[in-house]
Amino acid sequence: MKLGFVGTGALSSAIVTGLKSLPGETTPVVISPRNEAIAAGLAARYRDVRIAADNQAVLDQCDTVMLAVRPQIAREVLKELRFRPDHHVISLIATIPREEIAGLVAPAAQVGKALPMPLIARRQGSTIICPPDPIVATFFGRLGGVIEVEDQSEFDALSVVTATYAGYFRYLDTIHAWVSSQGVPRDKARDYITNIYKALADAPDTAPDENFMHLAQDYATRGGINEQVLREMTERGTFEAFAESLERVHRRITGK
Ligand SMILES: NC(=O)c1ccc[n+]([C@@H]2O[C@H](COP(=O)([O-])OP(=O)(O)OC[C@H]3O[C@@H](n4cnc5c(N)ncnc54)[C@H](OP(=O)(O)O)[C@@H]3O)[C@@H](O)[C@H]2O)c1
Repeated sequence: MKLGFVGTGALSSAIVTGLKSLPGETTPVVISPRNEAIAAGLAARYRDVRIAADNQAVLDQCDTVMLAVRPQIAREVLKELRFRPDHHVISLIATIPREEIAGLVAPAAQVGKALPMPLIARRQGSTIICPPDPIVATFFGRLGGVIEVEDQSEFDALSVVTATYAGYFRYLDTIHAWVSSQGVPRDKARDYITNIYKALADAPDTAPDENFMHLAQDYATRGGINEQVLREMTERGTFEAFAESLERVHRRITGK
């Protein structure tokens, strides 16, 4: 594989960093010159990473191309480029469907979408790919795992999960702020919360037959303090409001 990136920003940088952290990894990588500082940093850090003169030069030197420009400029950028029929194109661009990308990169025949997260730099967090593709699955499988989906609607629904990270940290911040307000040193509170939530994150693996609601019920001992928080949040409509947000994000992702 000769791998190229059109758009060298946060996500391309994370993928290259994850890839090059694999022991003995020598895949040649060609990156486009923007962002200048990020491209220069990657080329300086990794022997096999080179900066192309422009976007077209990336395509000309690669067989596998990841598209990683922002959606707002993607159509304009892609219209200018000449793809080959043998190019394997993987679009990382959120909110532009695979069919539209396929039209923009014709005559490239193999076109898919992938949704990695910046945690890929540490080879963590699964990447969603659509459609299933053994080469792309192997690539992302080594970088934190892969979830292959058949159709765009499944891909879009799973993508909504990626909108919930900031809310998760705000939830932990609420706990941290309250505990600290009681006079507990901030570092101590942070360490405790981090440690406990790491352990909770493993709970679905230790009870693979239980769904998340079962786990919630397991922890909500009748008459206990977990049941109280769960009941009060439910009564105030917290979870309903959250589900409505997911619905609105889904409409945004699908353009409906
Ligand atoms: N970051 C994430 O968590 C994430 C997750 C899922 C999907 N995505 C998708 O991945 C894509 C990249 O996201 P990102 O977070 O990496 O964005 P980003 O950091 O803004 O990277 C985009 C890069 O494209 C460069 N660029 C601008 N104009 C260009 C052009 N004409 N030709 C080539 N490159 C150009 C920008 O350079 P300058 O800085 O010089 O303008 C920038 O470095 C987006 O489509 C986004 O929807 C991102």
